[in-house]
Amino acid sequence: MALTFNSHYAKAFLRPNDLAGLEPSVYLAHDLLESKTGLGNDFLGWTTLPTDYDHEEFGRIKKAAEKIRRDTDILIVIGIGGSYLGARAAIEFLKGPYYNQLAKDGPQIYFAGNSISGSYLSDILEMCKGKRVSLNIISKSGTTTEPAVAFRVLRRYLEEQYGEAEAASRIYCTTDRARGTLLQLAKEKGYECFVIPDDVGGRFSVLTAVGLLPIAAAGADIDALMAGAAAAQKEYNLRSLSDNPCYTYAALRNAFYRKGKEVELLVSYEPRFTMMSEWFKQLYGESEGKDHKGLFPASVTFSTDLHSMGQFIQDGTRLMFETVVTIGDTGCDVTIEEEQNNGDGLNFLSGRTMTEVNEKAFLGTVLAHTDGGVPNLVIHVDRADEENLGRLIYFFEKACAISGYLLGVNPFDQPGVESYKKNMFALLGKPGYDEQKAELEARLLV
Ligand code: PA5
Repeated sequence: MALTFNSHYAKAFLRPNDLAGLEPSVYLAHDLLESKTGLGNDFLGWTTLPTDYDHEEFGRIKKAAEKIRRDTDILIVIGIGGSYLGARAAIEFLKGPYYNQLAKDGPQIYFAGNSISGSYLSDILEMCKGKRVSLNIISKSGTTTEPAVAFRVLRRYLEEQYGEAEAASRIYCTTDRARGTLLQLAKEKGYECFVIPDDVGGRFSVLTAVGLLPIAAAGADIDALMAGAAAAQKEYNLRSLSDNPCYTYAALRNAFYRKGKEVELLVSYEPRFTMMSEWFKQLYGESEGKDHKGLFPASVTFSTDLHSMGQFIQDGTRLMFETVVTIGDTGCDVTIEEEQNNGDGLNFLSGRTMTEVNEKAFLGTVLAHTDGGVPNLVIHVDRADEENLGRLIYFFEKACAISGYLLGVNPFDQPGVESYKKNMFALLGKPGYDEQKAELEARLLV
C-alpha cells in the first residue's frame, strides 16, 4: 500500500462509540459532496480534478516547464496562500529542502509575493543579478496586494534586463479564465496564460496550473502526480467509515475535537515535509476556522522540534492530538560507520542508516507522547515520490472537506481573511477607504 493510516496509538483515548456515533454524519458529508448540495458547492472542482482536467493546457504546462528548464537559471514564482504554498510544498517534498543548491539541470526556484517584506524581495533581486530569470505570477483574483506589488517590481526588473518583448516571453501568468486586472495585463503584454478554474478555491488548487507549472519546472513528473491523485480520488470516495482511511481520519479529528483536543499537531520526521505542513495548515485553518469553531492546525518537524516544543507536547497543557506523517523511502540515506576508538560512544549505531535511527526516534516518541496523554494518528507513505504526493494531497483535501461538513461550516470560503485587508487598505490611503482611515488611526498608538 502506498499510503496507510493507523489509529493504533489513539485507541486508548477513544470509547467504542466515538467513531460509530459519527458514521451517519460522515455519510451525510459524503452525500453532500457527491450530490454537490452542501455548503460551498460551487467550489467542488477539486474533487474530480485528477481525472477531469484540461489536457490541452496540461500539455502546454509541460512545454512551458521544458522551456523554463532550458532558458532559465532562476524561476521566481509569485503568489500567496493557495497560490503559493502547494507548489513550494510539493517541490520540497519531492526534491528536498536544498533543491536550489543541488539543482543541476533545471532552474533554481524562489518564491516571492508571499509577504510584504522589502528586504526579502530585495534579496531576490540581488540573487537575480547576472542570471537568466523567468517569472510565474499566480493570482486567481489578480488583485491580491502582496503578489501584485512583487510582480510590479520584478516585471520592471525583467523589462529593464531583456526589453519588453523578451521579458514577455519569460513571464507566465496563472489566473482566472475570464476576469481580473492580471488577465487584462497579461493579454496586453502577450504573456502565456494558464487557468485557475472558477470552481477550485486557492487552497485546493495545487493540482491545477497553480502547482503544476512550478512543480514541472523543478523537473518532477506531473503525470505521476496526477495518477497518484486519481487513484486517491477513487479510493477515498468509498462510502464507508471503516474501509475508507480518509473518512476515518476526518471522523477521528472530529471525535478528538469534541473531547476538547482543540489543536491538531501535524508531525513529520523529514525536513522535506516542513512546507507540506505549511500547506496543510492553510488548508485546514482556512477551511475549518470559522464561526468561532475549528481545530487549530499546528505543525512540528521532529526530531528538531523535540528539542524545543517536545517539552510542551509531553508535559504541558493537554490540548492536542498529533497526526504523524512518516515516509518510508526518501531516495537517499547516510550510513553511520564504525570508529575504532569509539570516542563519541556511537558504535552501537554502526552499520545502521540514519533512516533506521529516525524510525526509532518516531517509535520512541509516539510511545512517550501517548504515555503523556497525547493521542497519535499515523499516516505512512512508502516513498517521497510524485505518485504518493498526489495521493497525500487528495487524502488531505478530501478529509478536510468531510471535516468541515462534520463541523457544520462551509469549508470552501474564507470571509475572515478580508478584515486585515480592509484595515491595511484604509491605513495606506487606498481610494474609497477615507472614512475608515480616520476611524482606525484614532485607535492606533502611533
Ligand atoms: O485559499 C485561498 O483562497 C487564499 O489563500 C488565496 O489563495 C490567496 O489569498 C491568494 O489569492 P489570489 O490567488 O486571488 O491572489
